[in-house]
Amino acid sequence: MKARYCLIPIPIVRRVSKTTSPLAVKLHADNQQVVIGNGIVSLNLSNPEGYIIGLYNSGSDNILAQKNEEIDRGYLDVVWNDAGKPGVFERIHGTNYSVIEANDDIVEVSFVKTWKTSMKGSSVPIIIDQRYILRRGDSGFYSYAIFTRPPGLPAVVVYQIRIVYKLDDARFHYMAISDTRQRKMPTMEDRTTGQPLAYPEAVLLTHASDPDIRGEVDDKYQYSCDNKDNSLHGWITKDDSAPVGFWVITPSNEFRNGGPTKQDLTSHVGPTSLSMFTSTHYGGKKVIISFDEGETYKKVFGPIFVYLNSAPSQTQFKSLWSDAVEKLSTEVGKWPYDFIGSKDFIPPNQRGAVSGQLQVQDRGGKAQPASNSYIGLALPGNAGSWQEESKGYQFWTQTEKDGSFSIKNIVPGDYNLYSWVPGFIGDYKYKTTITIKPGGHINLGSLVYNPPRNGPTVWEIGIPDRSAAEFYVPDPYSNLVNRLYLNDSKNGFRQYGLWARYTELYPKNDLIYTVGVSDYRKDWFYAQVTRSTATSSLPTTWQIRFQLQNVITGNYTLQLAMASATNSKLEITFNNPKATAYELSTELIGDDNTIARHGIHGLYKLYAVVVDSNHLVKGKNIIYLTQSVAKTLFEGIMYDYIRLESPPTTKHT
Ligand SMILES: *[C@@H]1O[C@H](CO)[C@@H](O)[C@H](O)[C@H]1NC(C)=O
Repeated sequence: MKARYCLIPIPIVRRVSKTTSPLAVKLHADNQQVVIGNGIVSLNLSNPEGYIIGLYNSGSDNILAQKNEEIDRGYLDVVWNDAGKPGVFERIHGTNYSVIEANDDIVEVSFVKTWKTSMKGSSVPIIIDQRYILRRGDSGFYSYAIFTRPPGLPAVVVYQIRIVYKLDDARFHYMAISDTRQRKMPTMEDRTTGQPLAYPEAVLLTHASDPDIRGEVDDKYQYSCDNKDNSLHGWITKDDSAPVGFWVITPSNEFRNGGPTKQDLTSHVGPTSLSMFTSTHYGGKKVIISFDEGETYKKVFGPIFVYLNSAPSQTQFKSLWSDAVEKLSTEVGKWPYDFIGSKDFIPPNQRGAVSGQLQVQDRGGKAQPASNSYIGLALPGNAGSWQEESKGYQFWTQTEKDGSFSIKNIVPGDYNLYSWVPGFIGDYKYKTTITIKPGGHINLGSLVYNPPRNGPTVWEIGIPDRSAAEFYVPDPYSNLVNRLYLNDSKNGFRQYGLWARYTELYPKNDLIYTVGVSDYRKDWFYAQVTRSTATSSLPTTWQIRFQLQNVITGNYTLQLAMASATNSKLEITFNNPKATAYELSTELIGDDNTIARHGIHGLYKLYAVVVDSNHLVKGKNIIYLTQSVAKTLFEGIMYDYIRLESPPTTKHT
């Protein structure tokens, strides 16, 4: 890497009076750096790579980690591989810098990474154009990336696309990712002096410099968040006399993979903030992006907005979070942006909309409004395929109380309309492909979802909501806590090491759940994990015991919904622990890694297990659920909901 001198940031005008108009945007470039400033913030980019090497909003201190090399402060990276080859982690750097637009109101610059045959194996076969925009009056900058595959490129698998910001660790100590998930964070050194735990991305902070943090567990996955909620996170220089906030604002999820309930990382020890565009976190191999040889592609990731704010005094540091929340809502209101230089970013007036009203009718019951349902468009596929869809755009909303919905700002193209309704199992898909035209608005009118059901409910366990959170989540070990979640019952599942409580609670015999006696909130462990012995991990068999007053001749159905699975194989038998003729025997399913990463939900799966009534008896019955893969502590299944249905009656057919 060539040596650089540091171009001076464009001067920051500390107090912009409300009555004078903001200063013009200025652009300076030489053959090493591009510097853009508007009197409020100044951004230094390496030329022609496009790494973010300096970011300033007051004084002369770089907000980014000045002590890091220039390639290691702000960058976009892609994890990918050629078929059969090991994975490559690539920091994307441009070879060609150009100015897209530069006037007093806006500067947009571009850094393009090309692809040539000589780059095979060393650079991802995708042309990547990284863009930065600074506008007059804005306390922050926009960034986005255009991924293009022209004809003729080799096959490739892409696992992850993200932007990384590494901040000045001398100043940024306080992290905020939601109204309640905020704390003073450990340092990187606290991690290196700590003790790696069973899943080594988690570290016990045995030597943390701050005694209040010493003895806690740190793991970046404890700060994961569903895509739908992953729109604002960042850091505050809490200890400064005039604290500064650094925020990653993601005003739309349209470019992320896996839909609204996919989880991903936010900010973590570093101090680091991420802008996750796509990843395999909590989804595994099913959510990779796979390109065939010659397959063409075009997608815009972002824009996102990096927002900087400051407070006049130390005591007001928390106001930077609430100010950023307000800023997020302003940015969401401006979406889709109308000032983006690339014609590949579809502006508001060329987007379309879909509206309608969704009802849910469980067989045998009356149609009712599908309130608070997740409803959205994703590339055409089977019902539920959106959660594994990573290539295209997705557009989601939640229905109103009366089931009505309106999905706006849709990029033209062909989609299916998908939904899932909290409180009901299964996936809805609208019957035909929907073609969105520029400026078009489609009203689908009244839609009805009939969730799977073969007969009346005999009993049920849990709530069908694609999460295991309603089950028994134990308290953490007192020597393995993240204090942030000690008084936050909603996030208790994010504590480290909860899986180990299983063997403690069920030292000899596995979990037995007795319908009508047990309470799933207390008696159904949040995950069917493996049993630990001193030397190994063992499979477990859970039992559901229930009484039948009489057996109706015909087929019963066990509706079994999983919230997540990791390298598991589920085998189910009725009334015969030794049977090898399983009522259900899955393949090896799932690599969500939700147990190790404290996730509580990953990819949703639904099984309808049909059992002939001659396998059931009048009186006491037992269902055996065996998770038969036990290589480590981290295989297992998180159930969402289980229901036994008796044979169909005329009402239910
Ligand atoms: C029960 O299910 C089996 C297997 O799906 C099917 O072959 C059989 O016809 C069903 N029996 C009744 C009574 O519906």
